[in-house]
Amino acid sequence: MKIAVLNGSPKGEISVTMQYINYIQKKFPSHELKIFNVSQRIKKIETDENSFSEIIDYIKTSDAVIWAFPLYVFLVASQYKRFIELIWERKAENVFENKFAAVLTTSIHFFDHTAHNYMHSICDDLNMKFIGGYSAEMMDLEKEDKRKNLFSFASNFFESIEKNIYSMKYYHPLIRNEIKYNPGVSDIKLNTGNKKITILTDSKAEDLNLINMVQKFKNSFAGEIETINLYDIDIKGGCLGDLKCGRANECNYLNSDGFVEFHKTKVMTSDILIFAGSIKDRYLSSKWKQFFDRSFFNTHLPVLKGKQLGFLISGPLSQIPNLYEIMEGFSEFQNANLAGVVTDESNDNNKTDEAINNFAIQLIKFSEMSYVKPSTFLGVGGMKIFRDEMFSNLRFPFKADHIYYKKNGIYDFPNNKYKQISAGIILNMLNNISGFRKVLNDKLKVEMIKSLAKAVKTN
Ligand SMILES: Cc1cc2nc3c(=O)[nH]c(=O)nc-3n(C[C@H](O)[C@H](O)[C@H](O)COP(=O)(O)O)c2cc1C
Repeated sequence: MKIAVLNGSPKGEISVTMQYINYIQKKFPSHELKIFNVSQRIKKIETDENSFSEIIDYIKTSDAVIWAFPLYVFLVASQYKRFIELIWERKAENVFENKFAAVLTTSIHFFDHTAHNYMHSICDDLNMKFIGGYSAEMMDLEKEDKRKNLFSFASNFFESIEKNIYSMKYYHPLIRNEIKYNPGVSDIKLNTGNKKITILTDSKAEDLNLINMVQKFKNSFAGEIETINLYDIDIKGGCLGDLKCGRANECNYLNSDGFVEFHKTKVMTSDILIFAGSIKDRYLSSKWKQFFDRSFFNTHLPVLKGKQLGFLISGPLSQIPNLYEIMEGFSEFQNANLAGVVTDESNDNNKTDEAINNFAIQLIKFSEMSYVKPSTFLGVGGMKIFRDEMFSNLRFPFKADHIYYKKNGIYDFPNNKYKQISAGIILNMLNNISGFRKVLNDKLKVEMIKSLAKAVKTN
């Protein structure tokens, strides 16, 4: 069988992910797995139509496609995202139709599910026959049971193609509401006080709804609000994944483009940040993805801690819960407050006006109160992954993270909680004795709320 492997690592073949592909190739020598270094060669693919056609022509005659990529900031790398956009821009969707597809990723399992959801939905949008996804932890290949697992995944994939199995669609096509948003006159003029608000947008001339939403938001304030278009920033390219940032948060591009300077002086100094973008496929644009990937020079540090974040989105966000979860996960990991998300999905312009007004009021109010809503599983669970990784496996190369985590009490392992651990041991022993068990059970409910009730009483 001929299988096209679309490699999403900006590192090309010297990549963790490609070792998993190499393993599959070794175990299934009768199949040809042809690797295309899509992310690494994105500039060429974008500017030279032949480079793009070469990949598309191979896919045309192949039996299946493996989307193989590393997790990059909740999704695929921006370069890979750009390639996905090119498929539609260059009208190559039909080549993917009815081809079998699988997704293989490597990561540390931080929001690997959102990347898988994204890629699965893209496969469905391309009318591919999706067989399944495999999310490997970076170093899984070292372990025998994981290699066996990978073998089973690949074996099932090839067998499914041979048997031409039926694959059911999971994601329905997005329905786009073509409603034009024309903002009404603003009836509020908020005072920003000492709060610095910055709007980041990737709008182009044709993104009229987004431009109008941004303008409406700006009109809600008495003073001028700075708006920065990501296309006006000197960004030479996407993150290269070389991890030069790990030691002291210095980006490999440091002196060759303006991103780090922009991020440090405009993004990190704002109290309120508005991200304005239009939905492109099942995410925002690859330009926005580039922004998030390049922000990784801050590695796993919550540099937006305490800030208010808001999203102004043009497009069918309500049909893409996965993207909403990414927004929440991003805000929670940053220890920032997701103050609101407004879209142009309402058929009633007045409602959108009202939503933007409320959004503006809420942002200022929350900022003045320094309010950050508590993290859910997304932030709490995610942070535990980072905590464990920075303490051990990833202490090198992420020295800067390790220093910050140590200093800021992020290494809060439960094995340091000696009081709770010894109480647990003693109580479990007593619980084995039937006489004590009844007393303990009777007291459990009251004891659980004792310290909380005390806090209510004394504060
Ligand atoms: C810019 C950047 C962003 C990353 N984002 C994530 C992430 O969101 N979740 C995760 O689990 N791993 C993340 N990683 C880790 C990579 O997915 C992981 O190291 C992967 O195995 C690298 O594969 P490669 O060598 O094939 O590029 C990120 C790495 C980089 C460089």
